[in-house]
Amino acid sequence: MNGSGLLKRLRQELVGLDTEVPTLSGQRRRYVSLDNASSTPTFRPIVSKVDEFLGYYANVHRGSGFKSQLASWAFETARHDVARFVKADLNEKTVIFTKNTTESINRLSRLYPFRPDGVIITSTMEHHSNDLPWRRVAKVVHVGVKADGSLDVDDYLRKLKEYAGKVDLVTMTGASNVSGWVTPYHYLARLAHEAGAKFVLDAAQLAPHRPVDMKPSSDPEHIDYLAFSAHKMYAPYGIGALVGDRKPLLAADPDMVGGGVVDIVTIEGAYWRELPEREEAGTPDIVGVVALAAAIRLLEAVGWSAIQEHEERLARRLLTRLAEVPEMKIYGQNDPVDVSGRLGVVAFNVGKIPYALVAAILSYEHGIGVRTGCFCAHPYMLCLLDVQPQEATKVRDEILSRDRTNVPGAVRASVGLYNDESDIDALVEALKVVQRGGHSGSYVLCKETGSYVPTERDCFEFDSHFTLTPHLPS
Ligand SMILES: Cc1ncc(COP(=O)(O)O)c(C=O)c1O
Repeated sequence: MNGSGLLKRLRQELVGLDTEVPTLSGQRRRYVSLDNASSTPTFRPIVSKVDEFLGYYANVHRGSGFKSQLASWAFETARHDVARFVKADLNEKTVIFTKNTTESINRLSRLYPFRPDGVIITSTMEHHSNDLPWRRVAKVVHVGVKADGSLDVDDYLRKLKEYAGKVDLVTMTGASNVSGWVTPYHYLARLAHEAGAKFVLDAAQLAPHRPVDMKPSSDPEHIDYLAFSAHKMYAPYGIGALVGDRKPLLAADPDMVGGGVVDIVTIEGAYWRELPEREEAGTPDIVGVVALAAAIRLLEAVGWSAIQEHEERLARRLLTRLAEVPEMKIYGQNDPVDVSGRLGVVAFNVGKIPYALVAAILSYEHGIGVRTGCFCAHPYMLCLLDVQPQEATKVRDEILSRDRTNVPGAVRASVGLYNDESDIDALVEALKVVQRGGHSGSYVLCKETGSYVPTERDCFEFDSHFTLTPHLPS
């Protein structure tokens, strides 16, 4: 079967595709999942691979039994899968398994040997996970964004010049989790290298949707370090990866110490192992690693051209159909014709209807899951929403006094490879109802959380759908 044939079949393999959820009317509706930029559901072939592995489950790198050895072999094979997935040469790079992108970036920020006056350049469009960790370890300079939400490359050039000789790292996202904009990261890497800096790519959003190629270090456009999360690429089992040059990571002691990171321990001291073991203290998430490898192999079997073609079609449809909703305001680029430079991630507002109310109606009346707010990218959202400094200060004070009534934000819809046109049409039809005030429920704002809940009764009684108690044999 070719890639697009396989891709079509995969929708039916989505775990939870037919999950019905309650709505205010009392009817159940099939859940429409359009929050893939947060986390994706998984596919049955991945779950069954995990189940199969559980038959062999044992700790890695320690035991002598068959299962321990098989588990170690699977774990290390998965490491090679990750390297292949991002085209990293394991002769010079290492793959460290972490919890997620956030942990990968925090880890790198703590290990990297910054010079005392070293500078890190990042951008205003970053997720907080590719901004806050760096602020703890060095001076961070933010490149601005343009009105359409794209990176201001001229500003980047200016900042490289301004801090010439001092820039240790440039760290940028591969794609925005708010506007879906794909950055020209290889070009940005080349400029970073020309300035004598290393380049870090936050691939949390990019990796599930586009092929990633770290390129050999002899290539001026190579990527020195890269981080991504498996839960955004159909393997929500709690694993992530940090991939990059091994040498600088050896300058400091391991970030975390304990079992697995040492060759030998005496009462006086310890001798650290090589990478990657010295950065994987304790028992790792072995099942998560197996799931990640299965997800990588699934994506490879479908192939990037089929994935990209399908997701671009969905992005075009999303932008085209959202524009049918009166008073629709899309943030960032909204051209439905040329979507080659973006992902199917779209942030929007409908007139003056509070974004959290829009999302509540979508959820409680239509069974549609989206995300709202500022998407862990506050500085970027302030730019996109054109919030003036005075208003930002006022809102900040309100938030700190536990009132989120006026927090600016938006609704975000984001597609995965299993979505189809019907999911987008369901969203757009529901938004039209919301826009004309045709919703049936009445909602009240919870000041502290900033979310809206139905006034009459909350129909979400979770324990009638799911409990944590296992089905024990009777
Ligand atoms: C661009 C980007 N970077 C980093 C992260 C953090 O990922 P995680 O929560 O898996 O650590 C996210 C999550 O949404 C993201 O979108």
